[in-house]
Amino acid sequence: MPLVAANWKMNPNNLDDALDLVRGVMAVARGQADRVEVAIFPPFPWLTAVSDLLVDSGVKLGAQNVFWEMAGAYTGEVSPPMVKALCQWVIVGHSERRLHLGETDDMVARKTAAALSCELGVIMCVGELADHYDAGTSDQVVSAQVRAALARCSADDSARLVIAYEPVWAIGSGRNADPEHAYKTMRLIRKIVGEMIGAGAARKVRILYGGSVKADNVQSYVELPLCDGVLVGGASLDADEFAHIVKVTSEVYGHR
Ligand code: PGA
Repeated sequence: MPLVAANWKMNPNNLDDALDLVRGVMAVARGQADRVEVAIFPPFPWLTAVSDLLVDSGVKLGAQNVFWEMAGAYTGEVSPPMVKALCQWVIVGHSERRLHLGETDDMVARKTAAALSCELGVIMCVGELADHYDAGTSDQVVSAQVRAALARCSADDSARLVIAYEPVWAIGSGRNADPEHAYKTMRLIRKIVGEMIGAGAARKVRILYGGSVKADNVQSYVELPLCDGVLVGGASLDADEFAHIVKVTSEVYGHR
């Protein structure tokens, strides 16, 4: 089933607005549960209230980050069991964390393995910078990220593992990737995952596109043969725009 994931990032700044947005998403997702999986990723402080609101809605809940240890003296961090108490999903290795917080491939690998061991679904993000894209080295960069991040994974993890291909230059820029480039990179990702955990298991790993996905371009990604959905940032903060993205995804997959 396709996955449409809403990464709210550090928005909105008050709980009332967050809950309004959740109500909008619930209205969108109603009646779609057997056609498209919808997951929202609000900031940590809103997770408890959002989780209460989502009961029986079919909309899944996720956190935007997680730590790799299960408990202990790690000021400011949130453990996989804490996330698991409220959420089904977690995003790991988002480029904004790699860029602003210095997350390395090794940290991403630890987080991925720790979250999977607690039976969380993981959206692990990879993507090249503009310089790599311009230099034609996207494939090498993305391959290295995938290999490093999955170093601690096994075939058993495949059903709960999602890889989001997000070219960094496309995130929040309005400059979405050419679908042909996205397709070739997703094909490469699938191949590497197959080499690492076996081709059969790799088929269960879902691959998303992310980076300036909007209502008016989502179709060009979700109709790509290897694309299992989208990770949406800015456009997920507008319930109407997000509704359109979910609807288009559901229609395209309904015709497959
Ligand atoms: P964007 O963000 O849709 O605003 O480009 C996507 C993401 O960062 O996951």
